[in-house]
Amino acid sequence: SSGSKVLVHFVNQSGMKSSVFVTEGESLLDAVIKKNLDISGFGACEGTLACSTCHLIFEESVYDKLEQTVDEEIDMLDLAYGLTKTSRLGCQVTVNCWMDGMTVCVPQEIKDQRGKQEAQSSK
Ligand code: FES
Repeated sequence: SSGSKVLVHFVNQSGMKSSVFVTEGESLLDAVIKKNLDISGFGACEGTLACSTCHLIFEESVYDKLEQTVDEEIDMLDLAYGLTKTSRLGCQVTVNCWMDGMTVCVPQEIKDQRGKQEAQSSK
């Protein structure tokens, strides 16, 4: 049934969770833009496979069911910060009803921790 709403939980780089209903058939990039989610720098190339800012980390059970990555996506993922074995580019993943309730995570910011380490070592 096209047009149905699928619940997706997004966790941004600060660990903040936003739960939104996404229309089936939209990409995860569409969802982030439409819902105006607070994920800084997400989707810089607007879904043209020319960046890796739409990098999202999936739950393993969901990842395993996603459609195959194309070579262009793999090339971009290779450049992505914080790559995991369940990483995909959000602009390439179309929301489907079976994904209802899934959680996708943006790679976590580690700048804060670096800052702390620097502060400690300078003592
Ligand atoms: Fe640039 Fe997905 S938005 S590759």
